[in-house]
Amino acid sequence: MNLSRRSFFKQAGAVALPLIAGCAAAGTLTHRVPVQNGKAFVAVADFPELSAVGGAIKLQVEGKKDPIFLIRAEESRYLAFSSVCTHLGCQVRKLPQSFRCPCHGSTYDLEGAVLRGPAQKPMTRFRTEAVDGGVIIF
Ligand code: FES
Repeated sequence: MNLSRRSFFKQAGAVALPLIAGCAAAGTLTHRVPVQNGKAFVAVADFPELSAVGGAIKLQVEGKKDPIFLIRAEESRYLAFSSVCTHLGCQVRKLPQSFRCPCHGSTYDLEGAVLRGPAQKPMTRFRTEAVDGGVIIF
């Protein structure tokens, strides 16, 4: 797929708008992202957190009930995960080198694999594609 940032915005007619959500306790911001044809475009330049490998942002994608974490895993490889713990559905929190669920302590690595239970399944991952100027989450 060859979709530039500019053409995506033309099609979507929208831009990502930062939103301060109820995550003050976790010290994180949730950014609202519109969806066009089942795809959410994130303009990396708009998020300084994604300027370096290992950076992460929390997104509220239009039409999704729960937030999504977007991680810059490598220079041009991004991972997107549901914030829902696969144990019993609590919201996981992003730590510097992992995700941790506050309910029963499940811990996941930055690839979404279980490091410590009780969760048995990896975090739910969404397909991503790095494109000119950003990342598309499917
Ligand atoms: S709901 Fe996350 S560890 Fe139980």
